[in-house]
Amino acid sequence: MRTTLPTAPMGATGLVAPVQGLGCMRMTEPATATGPSAAATVINRALDLGATMIDTSDMYGRGRNEEMVGRAVRHRRDEAVLCTRFGVVFGPGDSWSMRGDAPFVRASCEASLKRLGTDVIDLYYLARPHVNVALEETIGAMAGLVAEGKVRHIGLSEVSGAELRRAHAVHPVSAVQSEWSLGARRIEAMVPDCVELGVGVVPFSPNGRGLLSARDDRSAQLARTFPGREDLPGVLRDIATGHGVRPGQIALAWVHHRARVWGIPVTPIPGTRRLDHLQENVAAAGIALTDTELARLDAVSPAGA
Ligand SMILES: NC(=O)c1ccc[n+]([C@@H]2O[C@H](COP(=O)([O-])OP(=O)(O)OC[C@H]3O[C@@H](n4cnc5c(N)ncnc54)[C@H](OP(=O)(O)O)[C@@H]3O)[C@@H](O)[C@H]2O)c1
Repeated sequence: MRTTLPTAPMGATGLVAPVQGLGCMRMTEPATATGPSAAATVINRALDLGATMIDTSDMYGRGRNEEMVGRAVRHRRDEAVLCTRFGVVFGPGDSWSMRGDAPFVRASCEASLKRLGTDVIDLYYLARPHVNVALEETIGAMAGLVAEGKVRHIGLSEVSGAELRRAHAVHPVSAVQSEWSLGARRIEAMVPDCVELGVGVVPFSPNGRGLLSARDDRSAQLARTFPGREDLPGVLRDIATGHGVRPGQIALAWVHHRARVWGIPVTPIPGTRRLDHLQENVAAAGIALTDTELARLDAVSPAGA
């Protein structure tokens, strides 16, 4: 089966994004999480189902994740919207820092291209804007990579509205990637900037870092991680029962409905290492929640936090 999920234009530079992608981080975090062949099976099934935005980063597994993703999609490279991030420099032990100077941007991109085994990255993100130089230098260097054909589109991760505007003034930004779920809604303070500039949003950890999709009872951990949501699990269960689906699918469907609420393309990238979970997550993209259900979910998930 091919391409069951629809696509939509994202940003102003011609990026066409599926309505859902696949986050690959946990395939190497922890280091032993998934073998390359199991990971390749999940990634290829995601492509079959149309969840073609495949998300990795040069920091995951210190490069091993990119190698794994690259090998998995190599034989059908054109079907994937290959996305990766740069900006983190590992130091001794567990220490790390951020860089964004022009030589570093170029070296990071070259290294990612090599690990991914491709000659172009579809969507290249700056991992965090807090780097050692002005954001304008970093974006200028990323624009240079676009001009050379090494990168197709530019993205930013975890930025403020003001940072997005500064970056966008240097080169059009196609997508902002930030945490967005019923557990984490701080991004909504800057989404109006995305709407105004025509920038798409790629919500990461849309299943609440696994706490909203877990099969077992994670209420206590949910309350600690995402305060003020004590009534959320009950409401999710109730709405899920009405639809005959799992509570996690309702949580993911809520993220999908952000596209309608805000009038912008929104492509969540739920992470999974399992085929059955992937299938469920893809099905969640087709769940239509009523305004009443959305209002019930909003009421148990404070918008500012
Ligand atoms: N830009 C950034 O700074 C940043 C930060 C964090 C993450 N990310 C990106 O976002 C992606 C997703 O984030 P995430 O992994 O933190 O959180 P997530 O997508 O909210 O949750 C992933 C967890 O949920 C579980 N899960 C997924 N589907 C499920 C289902 N249908 N039923 C039950 N459990 C399910 C997964 O376990 P199984 O593997 O067992 O399914 C995994 O433990 C990452 O892979 C990464 O690409 C980006």
